[in-house]
Amino acid sequence: MFDRVAPRYDALNRILSGGRDAGWRRRAIALARLGPREVALDVGVGTGDLAFGLLDASDPSARVIGVDVSPLMLEAARRRAEEQGEPRFAGMLATADALPFADGAFERIVAGFAVRNFGDLAVGLREMRRVLRAGGRAVILELSTPPNPVVGVAYRLYFHRLSPLIAATLGGDAAAYRYLPRSVAAFPNAEGLAAHMRDAGFARVRYERLNLGIAAIHVGEA
Ligand SMILES: C[S@@+](CC[C@H](N)C(=O)[O-])C[C@H]1O[C@@H](n2cnc3c(N)ncnc32)[C@H](O)[C@@H]1O
Repeated sequence: MFDRVAPRYDALNRILSGGRDAGWRRRAIALARLGPREVALDVGVGTGDLAFGLLDASDPSARVIGVDVSPLMLEAARRRAEEQGEPRFAGMLATADALPFADGAFERIVAGFAVRNFGDLAVGLREMRRVLRAGGRAVILELSTPPNPVVGVAYRLYFHRLSPLIAATLGGDAAAYRYLPRSVAAFPNAEGLAAHMRDAGFARVRYERLNLGIAAIHVGEA
């Protein structure tokens, strides 16, 4: 499915989130900024929005490795690195369930709108914790469920009914954008994700809700 949406993914995200996803990414990037020679892993890197934003905001000697299960998403990220002349990015085809890296290999782990799609959330989070260096930080940006019931009704109406129609009208993949709200409904709320992170071994887990809770940023440390 991610291969299918890859060509229009960036533009549709901007439109369907009313431009909010860029601000959410900026906040996640501010929490994950890298110092000299530090390396981050971006799990589910997609077309690289988070990875390239993080490089822009970090020390010039920092690097980001992006992994993704979708060859087309990864290809888009690699093309972007080439076009931008960005040698500090490397992309690898890999799944979050079995990250091909040594324990404690990274100072930062970031994931933007990716953990919700993991085949097994507990395994993916444990893997992310395993490859995080002692003193390192994981920053997870993900869609969430608004805690206020009134906001929740309006949100579900938009997300379940309107957004697949908008995606189809704009030439996107309506089935993929029907998957989106279902995947959020099936995903733990902000407190639930924090509990999963603690179970996976992250310390000092905290989160901030964004835009009335339609998204959240979770931070955990090693
Ligand atoms: C919604 S996109 C987000 C991409 C990017 N992080 C961003 O912020 O725009 C989710 C990405 O996660 C990838 N993905 C889903 N499950 C994965 C897994 N188990 N392991 C690695 N990547 C995964 C998908 O292929 C897709 O590219």
